[in-house]
Amino acid sequence: MQDTRPTPDRIMRLINGYWATGILGAAASHSVFTHLDGGADTPGLLAERAGISERGAQTLLDGLVSLELVELHDGRYRNTGDAAEFLVEGRPAGLSEFAKLKLGHMGAMASLPDVVRAGGPVSDVTTEVADNPHWEKVVTAIAAQSVPVATIAADALRLADAGEVSILDVGGGSGVYSAIWLSLNPAARATQLDWGPINAIARRLLAERGVADRFTCVDGDLHSTDFGTAAYDVAVYSHIAHQEGPEDNIATFTRLRDALKPGGTLVVNDYVVDDDRSGPPFALLFASEMLLKSKQGGTWRRADYHAWLTKAGFEDITFQPTSSPATLIFAR
Ligand SMILES: C[S@@+](CC[C@H](N)C(=O)[O-])C[C@H]1O[C@@H](n2cnc3c(N)ncnc32)[C@H](O)[C@@H]1O
Repeated sequence: MQDTRPTPDRIMRLINGYWATGILGAAASHSVFTHLDGGADTPGLLAERAGISERGAQTLLDGLVSLELVELHDGRYRNTGDAAEFLVEGRPAGLSEFAKLKLGHMGAMASLPDVVRAGGPVSDVTTEVADNPHWEKVVTAIAAQSVPVATIAADALRLADAGEVSILDVGGGSGVYSAIWLSLNPAARATQLDWGPINAIARRLLAERGVADRFTCVDGDLHSTDFGTAAYDVAVYSHIAHQEGPEDNIATFTRLRDALKPGGTLVVNDYVVDDDRSGPPFALLFASEMLLKSKQGGTWRRADYHAWLTKAGFEDITFQPTSSPATLIFAR
């Protein structure tokens, strides 16, 4: 007869979940997936190419096999399909930089019990601190996650064939939306509003893609810098709403409505929670990150976005889930 009593296995995996973050972050730090891709398929070869100890190489490979990021066949190791796609360096949607970033964030989780008691950050407020270096690390590491989403949005808006469109990206970070959209449409122009040091990163990345001549940056705080009036066909607000409280989101959506031409589209991209807060899993978990790092942020429900955008003057609001954990919202 099958034993149906609960086992502690899943809970043990969760308790030790930081092992996964550590092993993946350490493997990314030593370019393990890239070296495996290049043929370093034994612990000895990997140690030599990565400049790490053989004991360390074997330990990482054991962990990665357990995490199903690496497979072992006849004593030879190789990346699994998803590791090959997303963790070998140099791929547009690569997540290695993000894995390293999150390894660095891991220690902050130890303060979560205090943060939960206090209802907000106890030592580590980051999102509200003006012009802070946190973003310089974050924006390039998360850019890869926006690549598929920006591409889906471009298709939905038929941007490639839209002719001379003007785009405003508020909190554009690495400039990933502008980079993709300006590459797709040679007549489009984009303006990004962000802090000065972040705009400098974006300008460099857009120059590397050969589209910097149609890219303008405005340095400033998104809460107070003028967005202009009836100036843009498309505006983007990607991964910003979760750091803001309801009042600030409504205020920014209202200013974005004013900045758009009549009939223009606001594209919001974020981790949107179902109205009954039963899912999706990634968005539910992400709320803890905002509790740690922001005074008012969180993961907001579809109904919240709908109400805020309506209040801001948008009439046609659609939600489009993407293959990433984020949801696209189009508001006209
Ligand atoms: C999570 S990143 C998102 C970057 C980009 N939109 C994306 O989706 O890949 C947040 C961005 O907003 C910018 N940001 C946050 N608060 C801001 C503020 N008050 N004023 C201007 N920019 C801000 C940060 O510098 C950073 O570039």
